Amino acid sequence: MKNKSALITGSARGIGRGFAERFIAEGATVAIADINLDAAKATARALGDKAYAVQIDVSDQASIDAAIASVVNHAGKLDILINNAALFDAAETVGITRASFDKLYAVNVAGTLFTMQAAATQMIAQGHGGKIINMASQAGRRGEALVLVYCSTKAAVISMTQSAGLDLIRHGINVNAIAPGVVDGEHWDHVDSMFAKLEGKPLGQKKAEVAASVPAGRFAVPADLTGMAVFLASSEADYILSQTYNVDGGQWMS
Ligand SMILES: NC(=O)c1ccc[n+]([C@@H]2O[C@H](COP(=O)([O-])OP(=O)(O)OC[C@H]3O[C@@H](n4cnc5c(N)ncnc54)[C@H](O)[C@@H]3O)[C@@H](O)[C@H]2O)c1
Repeated sequence: MKNKSALITGSARGIGRGFAERFIAEGATVAIADINLDAAKATARALGDKAYAVQIDVSDQASIDAAIASVVNHAGKLDILINNAALFDAAETVGITRASFDKLYAVNVAGTLFTMQAAATQMIAQGHGGKIINMASQAGRRGEALVLVYCSTKAAVISMTQSAGLDLIRHGINVNAIAPGVVDGEHWDHVDSMFAKLEGKPLGQKKAEVAASVPAGRFAVPADLTGMAVFLASSEADYILSQTYNVDGGQWMS
């Protein structure tokens, strides 16, 4: 990762922050890109001088374009994009609102597509390829009773990874995805509280049930995913494209 310039969306916290920390340790310069600029600045400060904060709202084209421009301005180029920002929601099928559907599709699907498009456009102009990693999920591998919208957005991420990978490889750009299982952090605290309401469970119970169901016996932490991300962003993965890798403690086999 030495002398590589990476842009990681949604990296102010959680898995994205874990990726940023590891890519910096491997020698990359990393844009901590998030809708929450204050949080991105705090994370960038904590990760040292190879990290810098960039504001991005992946559901807004002007914001995506400005973020790519500021990466090029700061680092001179863009080599690696991790499309990590996403939103979650849960509801019974009869309770899904159009507002929730539109929001999740704007961030998880359109956000992933148009950030990938803007990054690829920059990489093509640079003329020496690049690496794009999209964050899918085990939720994209099969439906879940109360998670219709989120699951379908992540299935779309898997499909977009396949098509974009097949198209962009002629420019030397590898597009792949990672499908985590359950990863501990603020995201899952939010998921747990939603299920507590929907399933009438005390706080923390859903999390405990889910942890017990993981073949590896526990939730992941972001560091469980970083090896796969570094590998996919490296020249070791030049012959790999359009794939989605499960890093999920054995939750899904494909
Ligand atoms: N945590 C899990 O169990 C899990 C499992 C499977 C897949 N994933 C996927 O991994 C990725 C990271 O998950 P996480 O748990 O770290 O999430 P998180 O909610 O902890 O972090 C998401 C970050 O994205 C930012 N963000 C939200 N909307 C944005 C927007 N419009 N533009 C830019 N940034 C925005 C948030 O401010 C936040 O910093 C997501 O794509 C998620 O779907 C997570």
